[in-house]
Amino acid sequence: MFALNFTNEVNFMAQLWKGRFKKELAKETNDFNSSIKFDSRMFEEDIKGSIAHATMLGATGIIDKSESDKIVDGLNGILDDIKSGKLKIDMSAEDIHTFVEGELTARLGQTGKRLHTARSRNDQVALDIRMVLKKEIDEISEKIKGLIEVLCNKAEENKSVIMPGYTHLQRAQPITFGHHLMAYTSMLLRDLDRLSDVKRRMNVLPLGSGALAGTTYPLDRNMVAELLGFDSVSSNSLDGVSDRDFCIELASALSLVMVHLSRFSEEIIMWCSWEFKFVELDDAFSTGSSIMPQKKNPDIAELVRGKSGRVFGDLTALLTVMKGIALAYNKDMQEDKEAIFDAVDTVKMCLNAFTPMIDTMTVLKDNMRNAAAKGFINATDCADYLVGKGLPFRDAYKATGELVALCIDKGLTLETLPIEEYKKVCDIFDEGVCEAINLEKCVNDRLVEGGPSVSSIENQIKKAREIINK
Ligand code: ARG
Repeated sequence: MFALNFTNEVNFMAQLWKGRFKKELAKETNDFNSSIKFDSRMFEEDIKGSIAHATMLGATGIIDKSESDKIVDGLNGILDDIKSGKLKIDMSAEDIHTFVEGELTARLGQTGKRLHTARSRNDQVALDIRMVLKKEIDEISEKIKGLIEVLCNKAEENKSVIMPGYTHLQRAQPITFGHHLMAYTSMLLRDLDRLSDVKRRMNVLPLGSGALAGTTYPLDRNMVAELLGFDSVSSNSLDGVSDRDFCIELASALSLVMVHLSRFSEEIIMWCSWEFKFVELDDAFSTGSSIMPQKKNPDIAELVRGKSGRVFGDLTALLTVMKGIALAYNKDMQEDKEAIFDAVDTVKMCLNAFTPMIDTMTVLKDNMRNAAAKGFINATDCADYLVGKGLPFRDAYKATGELVALCIDKGLTLETLPIEEYKKVCDIFDEGVCEAINLEKCVNDRLVEGGPSVSSIENQIKKAREIINK
């Protein structure tokens, strides 16, 4: 086989560009130059791209139809053999494109050498990465939808579970756990939208750009685009081969996914602490300590938070690689793959662990409710109650502030402070204030679209489900 048993002819194909050179390539050069360790994962896309190219070459008469048919059969055979494990990819080849073409020529002889007519590895690799990343975007989007579904279900179960909402990590106003979870759903829905936007701009066929200056052959680029499911063809050949904006855009969209998962992780970590104890993670999604027998650690959440750094690093790497490259293709661009594949793989891995962790966690409703009872989070509602009685908001705010100070002095809450004390601060108060500062009422009166009331959460859940099931 090609990988093990080089014939002279195959050896020639192993370095596609060998004709000009008199010396063998130094091993160090090949080790450094070769990208096959990270581009072999594109084998299927590379072969399918070549099948479409060969089909078009046959259809346009650029090569004989009979030869094009043989090439297509040969490529399908290679694809089957790699998938079945019969053909091992040679990890010493320069890249996956070289390997596939070499194998084809080993199988078909002269006919195999016609595949690369009117094509360069520069437009070939630009095509392959686009094809791979389109598939990855679909996969990641499905995983994000899976997380959204879990969040919607959890939000539904917890739509009436009162918890404190925070600003500055200080208890601020009452919300529900359902409301809190749906905030993450909103972020993830934007992530989905961004990914589909990236995919739309990525869905442009670069093949036909040649090395940089197109080709003299009468290609039918639209036919190839249609065969491979691209919306359109690139409009400038220099840009076609040297554009990696789509990798950067994807890394950027994935960075935001990681920002969201990382913020969520941070909250999970806090909520698992004895100081909060708002949730308990399932044993299957927690870890222990090698020395402290009592420990149950939220390692998954911490790792997700940590791995966000990798993805931001990938984005920075891509931006830095691209920023100083004169048109058109330069070898620097081979660095695109490790970075973007790492970002893609990291996000997938994080979602794989994060979603079931959320799905299986126990919500400690009483602890949330108790925390909500303590931080004067109904103070705004108390002020609003006075406004309802005709007091200007600033005066109502001040009176309520005095009540809070009084409660702190006496070790009481607004709920346990006697009505006489209320009246001493402001004589407008009457028994009605008890109802006005009831946390359930405070939450459910917030009927405004986007607010925490049960009906608002139900509406948010319904809309999110509609989007992910579309
Ligand atoms: N392995 C190369 C890459 O990933 C393929 C393109 C090679 N083109 C070239 N002109 N050397 O970028």
